[in-house]
Amino acid sequence: MAASCVHLALLLCLIAPATAASPRSLRKPPLDATTPSLAGALAPTTIFEVDRPLLPPPGSSGPCSTPLLSASFGFTFTKPPATAAYTPPSCLVAAGGRASAISLAVLEWRATCRGVQYDRIFGVWLGGAELLRSCTAEPTSNGIVWSVSKDVTKYASLLAAGNSTLAVYLGNSVNSDLTGVYHANVTLHLYFRRAPPPPVAPATAPADLILPMSRGLPLNDGLWYQIQSAADVQSATVSLPPNAYRAVLEVYVSAHGDDEFWYDNQPGADHGAFREVTVRVDGVLAGAAWPFPVVYTGGLNPLLWQPITGVGSFNLPTYDIELTPLLGKLLDGKPHEFGFAVTNALDMWYVDANLHLWLDPRSTATTAGLVGYFAPEVDTYTVSSNSGIPANATYYTAANRRFSATGWVNSSYGNITTEATQTLDFVNTITFETLNQSTVARDGVNATDHAAGGVLYSVQTQRNFPLYVEFQTEQITVVHGLDETTVAAGRWSSGPAYRSLRTTQSSAADGGERVSSRQTYRYEATDGCYFRNVSSSGVRVVSDQTNEVCGTGAAAAAKGGLVWN
Ligand SMILES: *[C@@H]1O[C@H](CO)[C@@H](O)[C@H](O)[C@H]1NC(C)=O
Ligand SMILES: *[C@@H]1O[C@H](CO)[C@@H](O)[C@H](O)[C@H]1NC(C)=O
Ligand SMILES: *[C@@H]1O[C@H](CO)[C@@H](O)[C@H](O)[C@H]1NC(C)=O
Ligand SMILES: *[C@@H]1O[C@H](CO)[C@@H](O)[C@H](O)[C@H]1NC(C)=O
Ligand SMILES: *[C@@H]1O[C@H](CO)[C@@H](O)[C@H](O)[C@H]1NC(C)=O
Ligand SMILES: *[C@@H]1O[C@H](CO)[C@@H](O)[C@H](O)[C@H]1NC(C)=O
Ligand SMILES: *[C@@H]1O[C@H](CO)[C@@H](O)[C@H](O)[C@H]1NC(C)=O
Ligand SMILES: *[C@@H]1O[C@H](CO)[C@@H](O)[C@H](O)[C@H]1NC(C)=O
Repeated sequence: MAASCVHLALLLCLIAPATAASPRSLRKPPLDATTPSLAGALAPTTIFEVDRPLLPPPGSSGPCSTPLLSASFGFTFTKPPATAAYTPPSCLVAAGGRASAISLAVLEWRATCRGVQYDRIFGVWLGGAELLRSCTAEPTSNGIVWSVSKDVTKYASLLAAGNSTLAVYLGNSVNSDLTGVYHANVTLHLYFRRAPPPPVAPATAPADLILPMSRGLPLNDGLWYQIQSAADVQSATVSLPPNAYRAVLEVYVSAHGDDEFWYDNQPGADHGAFREVTVRVDGVLAGAAWPFPVVYTGGLNPLLWQPITGVGSFNLPTYDIELTPLLGKLLDGKPHEFGFAVTNALDMWYVDANLHLWLDPRSTATTAGLVGYFAPEVDTYTVSSNSGIPANATYYTAANRRFSATGWVNSSYGNITTEATQTLDFVNTITFETLNQSTVARDGVNATDHAAGGVLYSVQTQRNFPLYVEFQTEQITVVHGLDETTVAAGRWSSGPAYRSLRTTQSSAADGGERVSSRQTYRYEATDGCYFRNVSSSGVRVVSDQTNEVCGTGAAAAAKGGLVWN
């Protein structure tokens, strides 16, 4: 991705070094008019990421749609982000102006581009807090159009907080060969609860305050921190309000340059195939994020990602780390250091974060203490079966991490003990012609009030990120997906008690540039279901089925709870 070429605005630095004897080709030049499968395409092509429609809760009014920013990104590399003054929309003010009036907030990015251009990473920030990390679609000479809609309800406090600045950084470069200029609009769609807003559920409704951990404007770059090596730690210094009773750190992450295809890196100079983002509070490990292997729209073979873009490429996953057990050290009103690092990193990773805080409305200070902490080093090992020819060796890498922290927080809601756990199991096998990776990440949070005798909220999440790539000299096959299951319980639990998403995309291109892709998407939750099965050949959708009927599976799973496999 070009955005990582900080010092060299040349094409050469975009091309990942390939292993001499291997059939791997991780990045090809951008699409151009001579590509056979694009010839005769109707202009412009609509590119899309398979996702469910975002529906407001029953009884909501809206949408109230407000254009936030409109910009063209030509030669924007090493230039300031595009910015616009943000004022809470008048419909939000009319609904009382409070964050709790918002039942659903959707941020929509819509863009066009025509010509030849690389895929570019971009970010959208409000008041320094990142709202969206995304990758552009790659244009063609016939032109493309695409849009991304992201549920940003969890940022309701920022949307209602008052005037601030919306910033979009999309580092693009144009010259006689790279002609594509990205034209984009950012729009906010708000839906409201029936007035008056119902009382907010403590701890599980959107946070009362969001503190950004990013680089501040003015800046000739994205607001993300840039992590350039395994030893590089980027830090934010933040003071928390003394009446916080819950804290969750939401981490944004994307890999570029020598680590764009980190999952295919061999041991040695390339640091192998395991990466994790670690977060330290005042130097002490507070949790880790295991990245989903996002394949950007120019990755492996750009034809694979038109018209159905790769899972997560238009809306990169974010990672939540529960910090409530560690609040004991953070409520003194003093500045604390939040450090971000990437295990085994090569140049470079873009990382920033938002600290979501819930505040006690009935006290000016809460108190907290840590009662348990278990954070052994990540356990990794690599075995290579070397046939004497490095390119033909098989590399097997496995990594495991266990983390747990338990702490109490006394507030007007009671003396609540929160236990946060993280479990990672990672396996990666690289052979001459294949790459096979599995990441299984489990996060659990249990908040209990022992005196009141019960679980206030318990959220268990399991995410699986399977990735399989077969490289042949003239062909490439990619199968990847995201399985995510969340089960919530307890008196304070708001929102769906059960939510499961399973999506798998299989794409193949051969040397003649014949491309086909298929994706199934199955969402089953207490609040509704959505299924889609879509196939494409070249840039044409050849079959597309959707339905919103909940099968018996969802109901059974909701009753039975989450079954760890
Ligand atoms: C952006 O908004 C302007 C003004 O409404 C419109 O003319 C333009 O076509 C829009 N661009 C995209 C990419 O939607
Ligand atoms: C916020 O911005 C609007 C529009 O620019 C302006 O009218 C208003 O006075 C500002 N409010 C504050 C509190 O600065
Ligand atoms: C590596 O292995 C592949 C398949 O097993 C074989 O086709 C290729 O010739 C080997 N390469 C070298 C350099 O030996
Ligand atoms: C716990 O917090 C509440 C509310 O702030 C306060 O009234 C109470 O005294 C605290 N309990 C203890 C033991 O400090
Ligand atoms: C809260 O409960 C924990 C144990 O459950 C206890 O150690 C701590 O002293 C309590 N805090 C307050 C302020 O009562
Ligand atoms: C990929 O690895 C997983 C284990 O992590 C294994 O179950 C699966 O069969 C492998 N897939 C292929 C195509 O080899
Ligand atoms: C949290 O609660 C769930 C459901 O009650 C339970 O299955 C799980 O073992 C608990 N986890 C921890 C870490 O206590
Ligand atoms: C998806 O559609 C294809 C062809 O249209 C069909 O063969 C396949 O069985 C469908 N898959 C599911 C899970 O419905």
